[in-house]
Amino acid sequence: MGNIVVVGTQWGDEGKGKVVDILAEFVDVVVRFQGGNNAGHTIVVEGEPLVLHQIPSGVLHPRKRCVVGNGVVVDPKVLLEEIQGLESRGVKVSPENLIISEAAHLIMPYHRALDLARERAAGKGAIGTTGRGIGPAYEEKVGRRGIRMVDLRDSQILKKKIQDQLKEANLQLKERYGEKPFSVKEVVEEYLGFGERLLPFLTNTSVFLDQEIKAGRSLLFEGAQGTFLDLDHGTYPYVTASNTVAGNACVGAGVGPTRIHGVLGIVKAYTTRVGAGPFPTELQDELGENLREKGKEFGATTGRPRRCGWLDMVLVRDAVRLNGITDLAVTKLDVLGGLPSLKICVAYEYKGKRLEEVPCSLEVFSKCVPVYEELKGWEEEINYARDMEELPKNAQRYIRRIEELADVPVALVSVGATRNDTVMVQNPCKRG
Ligand code: IMP
Repeated sequence: MGNIVVVGTQWGDEGKGKVVDILAEFVDVVVRFQGGNNAGHTIVVEGEPLVLHQIPSGVLHPRKRCVVGNGVVVDPKVLLEEIQGLESRGVKVSPENLIISEAAHLIMPYHRALDLARERAAGKGAIGTTGRGIGPAYEEKVGRRGIRMVDLRDSQILKKKIQDQLKEANLQLKERYGEKPFSVKEVVEEYLGFGERLLPFLTNTSVFLDQEIKAGRSLLFEGAQGTFLDLDHGTYPYVTASNTVAGNACVGAGVGPTRIHGVLGIVKAYTTRVGAGPFPTELQDELGENLREKGKEFGATTGRPRRCGWLDMVLVRDAVRLNGITDLAVTKLDVLGGLPSLKICVAYEYKGKRLEEVPCSLEVFSKCVPVYEELKGWEEEINYARDMEELPKNAQRYIRRIEELADVPVALVSVGATRNDTVMVQNPCKRG
């Protein structure tokens, strides 16, 4: 069995949490490699939704190891709350099943404050971030001023680094945005407190993963957000502050590219986006609203209504190329039930020219008009289907068309929210 990366092929919220939760049964270790608590991976267990923000979605499986890699930015306050929330639901979280990279960077309270203040100040030009401090935390990392988990081990180093960061952050917060400054003493005390509780979880996760690989165990790398929120390849600047594509699994977890054997791309059967930025297939009408209601398309992290639209295969095709996708999982197919016909965007038109790829220029992208293909819909409820043959013929055609346009086989189709509501065509963790 090989090691696989699971990534979103759209703008996030493709249903990665459910798919990872299902596949976790077939692997030994689940690894987060980028992003932070801007992610919201929803899993429905025994009818109850559970949202995970920083802990990998494998945590619900006993005896699986979960790893938060060096590429993740960790908000320790939120992480401790998440651990507590899981424990209150009977899921034990200890260094036995969760380890965190010493090299992961910390999100500080002033990162959150700066994120919110900048968005407020940007007015109409705001990116629509989740307000969790993700951008400012990665900025400090790239600026080589970041504070890492390992710094929680030494109060003097931690204090010095917080002092240095706060010199700049307080200046900006106070002078530029008219916000309250933070006290070094309070932040140091708070973070030393978090450190006491989190130190047992810290280790060199790259070494751990290497040992697991050598012992013949299998890994699943759980991507957060989606391909078009990638800092380099997404719809910049309306993106997140990390690389979300599969290649970053290596950097963000400290494993070499030869260790990865497959990439599973998650495609929601339609498209959604939270936050600002162009969205060619967006439906700003009743149909869009119906998709939002039926698909419960409200942000798992912020509760914001998601923008909804038709499936855009230009995005998915680009995602196949950018991630080297070997298999696809189509999610939320049930949400499309009851519509007489369905549209799939197969290309864009810009000033009379046909475009087959997402253009780099946001100016051009925002003026792209989708070229649609129309397929017949289906009336039947499909949650019961466990086999492709049990899906209505038109639903099967929809899946086949996705495979043709992406030139990648569909390995799994999700037909409802729970683990059971799934058609497993070819388990990507059991292949070759
Ligand atoms: P940030 O990651 O909070 O800086 O937000 C940057 C952009 O990424 C905004 O448009 C967010 O709505 C979007 N974003 C961040 N995380 C997610 C996610 O998990 N799902 C969907 N969109 C996200």
